[in-house]
Amino acid sequence: MPSSAVARGRFIVFEGGEGSGKSTQAELLAARLDAVLTREPGGTELGAQIRSILLASSDNGLADRAEALLMAADRAQHVEEFIEPALLAGRDVVCDRYIGSSVAYQGYGRGLDADMVRAISGWAAAGLWPDLTILLTVPEQVSLERTGGARDRIEAAGAEFHRRVAEGFLAQAEDEPEYWIQVDGTGSTQEVEQRVLAAVAEMLGEPE
Ligand code: TYD
Repeated sequence: MPSSAVARGRFIVFEGGEGSGKSTQAELLAARLDAVLTREPGGTELGAQIRSILLASSDNGLADRAEALLMAADRAQHVEEFIEPALLAGRDVVCDRYIGSSVAYQGYGRGLDADMVRAISGWAAAGLWPDLTILLTVPEQVSLERTGGARDRIEAAGAEFHRRVAEGFLAQAEDEPEYWIQVDGTGSTQEVEQRVLAAVAEMLGEPE
């Protein structure tokens, strides 16, 4: 084996509803692991254009299946251009949302066939599944207090929609306990960070 061969990085994803604190925790974990931090939708330049359609500030008439396919298109570009090359170069990658969000929002939330959404996403991602998905859970009331109202068309989809999304995340975590871990997202940033670090150590071993 050539001496330049590097071990593939680890791919860690944060999932959760609005106001779950994912983005803050993704940033903290990436700093701790010296990992590359990225997010969906919009992790690439082309993805930023797709994101502006997906997260328009008001209803733009986007059909549910078109929404699912644009999420998948954003992911395909992100995996090929950014995530896979970083992993191959030996970097750990921390991503704020991934396939689990499509299953929860477009599947459970919008009511599309969740297995189909998952299959399309898996194809779009060329079969790249996370080594670990951390689901940050917070009660609905905490989420509402933290976000303080809707900022885009998905956040504005209503309480029932967001309850179905939460159910979709829990179902995935329960279905795949070897790849998903639930972390209580309530309390201070530091308290949640400690829980996240413990979860990563439990699932993937101590950070080097
Ligand atoms: P964003 O502004 O990035 O913030 P946050 O992740 O903190 O909520 O919002 C991304 C939105 O896109 C969010 O409402 C969830 C939604 N989304 C989907 O519906 N499906 C997906 O596959 C992804 C990646 C995101």
